[in-house]
Amino acid sequence: MARSFPDLVLGIETSCDETAASVAKRMDSAMGLAPKLLSNVVSSQLEVHKKYGGVVPEIASRKHLEAIIPVINEAIQTAGVGPGDLSGIAVTSRPGLVGALVVGVSTAKALALAWNLPLVGVNHVLGHVYAGFVDSAPKFPFMALVVSGGHTVLIHMLSHTQYQVVGRTRDDAAGEAFDKVARLLGLGYPGGPAVDALAKRGDPNAVKFPRAHLEPESLDFSFSGLKTAVMVFMEKAKRQGRTVPVEDLAASFQEAVCDILVEKTLKAAELYNTRRVLVAGGVSANSRLREMLTDSSQRLGVEVIIPPISLCTDNAAMIAIRGLYLFEEGVRDDLYLNASADSPVS
Ligand code: KG4
Ligand code: ZN
Repeated sequence: MARSFPDLVLGIETSCDETAASVAKRMDSAMGLAPKLLSNVVSSQLEVHKKYGGVVPEIASRKHLEAIIPVINEAIQTAGVGPGDLSGIAVTSRPGLVGALVVGVSTAKALALAWNLPLVGVNHVLGHVYAGFVDSAPKFPFMALVVSGGHTVLIHMLSHTQYQVVGRTRDDAAGEAFDKVARLLGLGYPGGPAVDALAKRGDPNAVKFPRAHLEPESLDFSFSGLKTAVMVFMEKAKRQGRTVPVEDLAASFQEAVCDILVEKTLKAAELYNTRRVLVAGGVSANSRLREMLTDSSQRLGVEVIIPPISLCTDNAAMIAIRGLYLFEEGVRDDLYLNASADSPVS
């Protein structure tokens, strides 16, 4: 008979190009203790997709199929537990590449049935927020910015199960903009880390790229104009026979993205009357963004929570931890749980 209050959860993540599994342990949340990670295994498909300049969905699904069982085995073994010690399974069920999600969801359902464990589906975007719950459990309410290759969204988090999306990108996600600009600059995929590294040697004020503020009170983002501005600038410079150091272009573009991300996040915190901000998702690994957030935290006295870099990009630790909290709140799914490509934050 499955226990009703899981305290050792296996998390599974296959929404894009990382096959990941993790075991997280519930500590005493009444004492404010954060969950403890017993293992965190990520098998990246990066090298496979690199040559195509982006993730190829069909290849991603096939690679997940090859990796999923070895990755889960490794996560359980590294945690020093056996399947019989587990008390629940959490799996990313939405949003993402549907063929990739299906691999994780089907595996999780099969294991839940075989091992007689409760199952819960986790929204990947909300999952990212829980990368900030590893060494400390942030207090509610807080304003979360999830900024990744597929999403740029501001979520007012009131509790594990109550939250409201208060801003989102109207076009490209910030990570997508990093990847597209990296391609323009002739850098590899994924572009974010490459732009970040190059920008360290560039002048962020070399080119004043536009910042899309949108309507005065808007908490939405827009990055497609910025990407076009970089393209137009490069074409014009080329026509005029001017050379602009690629380091300066990278630094100026990155500055524009980070400026707007920080400005809107702080504005959202102010509008919703909270002095706590959590920033997560792949782009939160960006060194300039982390620097700006730390600066504003000190200047404005806002508490800023940013996960360690290893937990910013896709992983299953964040899924296991959100799963722990969802189980604690009594949330469960049955074996009809399905993968969904583009469900909203829910
Ligand atoms: O969270 P993630 O691994 O996957 C999604 O859920 O999308 O985020 C991947 C995105 C990519 O667009 C990548 O270029 C970006 O995060 N990224 C970065 C950095 N590291 C990863 N962007 C800027 N600076 C970085 N250091
Ligand atoms: Zn992600």
